[in-house]
Amino acid sequence: MAGSERRILITGGAGFIGSNFVRFVMHERPRWRIVNYDALTYAGNPANLADVADDPRYEFVHGDIRDRDDLVHALSGCDSVVHFAAESHVDRSIADASPFVSTNVLGTQVLLDACRELGTIERFVHIGTDEVYGELPLDRPDLKFTEQTPLKPNSPYSASKAAGDLLALSYHTTFGLPVVVTRCSNNFGPYQYPEKVIPLFVTNLIDGQKVPLYGDGLNVRDWLHVIDHCEAVLAVLERGELGEVYNIGGNNEQSNIKLTHTILDLIGCGKDMIQPVEDRLGHDRRYAIDSTKIQSELGWRATRSTWPEALAQTIDWYKSNESWWRPLKQRTSPTVA
Ligand code: NAD
Ligand code: DAU
Repeated sequence: MAGSERRILITGGAGFIGSNFVRFVMHERPRWRIVNYDALTYAGNPANLADVADDPRYEFVHGDIRDRDDLVHALSGCDSVVHFAAESHVDRSIADASPFVSTNVLGTQVLLDACRELGTIERFVHIGTDEVYGELPLDRPDLKFTEQTPLKPNSPYSASKAAGDLLALSYHTTFGLPVVVTRCSNNFGPYQYPEKVIPLFVTNLIDGQKVPLYGDGLNVRDWLHVIDHCEAVLAVLERGELGEVYNIGGNNEQSNIKLTHTILDLIGCGKDMIQPVEDRLGHDRRYAIDSTKIQSELGWRATRSTWPEALAQTIDWYKSNESWWRPLKQRTSPTVA
């Protein structure tokens, strides 16, 4: 498959991970053609892919995954789908869950039905999240999420993503749609919208503003570089077993307070720049991913998530690309507000 010509529809390709994936695939699979289908919500940004916009292998379609007719049109001639499009920010889902249910649940169902109707899709990769498993306790570092961990989502965001995952898997069982699901941990890297903790904290500090640390700062996340995630998604697209779920993690657990201290050190700021703020409602304590399955079955390994070097490179990217994030930062978000 790697050498052959393919035409892939990528939903949400103008967002953080989707745009990194588009660029990564165009580099790694030069004979493939990419259709980037994106509604350009606040999180979708054509500037993320300005460097490939004129490439004849790339086509942008401004469309919503809830629009069946637009989807059927865009899917014509495509053999595969990688479904990134979603409302992705937990704090926004707490402020208003309705866009999350609408896009992540209803939109996923409309997309699945469009693919089923077309009957030409050979592979549908649904991009899920480790948040569907709920949380792990801090006092059991031996525990990690495996693909067998029962789903117990705690936020409207993760509940809507769990519903999307289960719908996708049900379309494999019921209709034989060639679905594979991934569940990944927290990504970091270039082009991440500055509402998520790393770009928010880095851009605040560049501007001399304090960083709002939720609660006691002891919540733990497993950080994976976005290109490691892209490599895993490509492996699943090419070699993943249909109907299966693959966890993807960085084996890189960091408490928020430790992450914050590392960012402060790398930027050269003192701890006085931490502003403790009220905790997030329903704030999951710890995520940790067991990636054994994708490692042993597909030979994937995280190679770019070395800490703190990869974080330092990411900080440098935000320092060098102020013109990318400044216009986004000026918009209101629940977190920034
Ligand atoms: P993002 O918010 O940066 O981008 C989402 C993209 O989807 C945007 O381009 C947006 O315009 C598009 N979109 C939203 N609603 C749409 C709709 N109705 N129709 C068409 N396009 C629409 O998100 P991200 O951080 O890049 O995450 C991408 C995917 O990966 C999501 O499914 C998310 O749940 C999942 N994920 C994210 C992370 C992470 O750390 N960011 C980790 C694991 C999984
Ligand atoms: O685990 C995968 C998930 O990671 C993805 O599915 C989501 O799309 C993605 O947004 C991310 O979710 P998180 O809620 O973990 O990411 P966020 O960057 O919002 O927060 C990371 C941690 O930092 C979390 O424990 C909350 C904390 N935080 C976040 C913000 C925005 C703060 O302390 N202060 C902040 O201002």
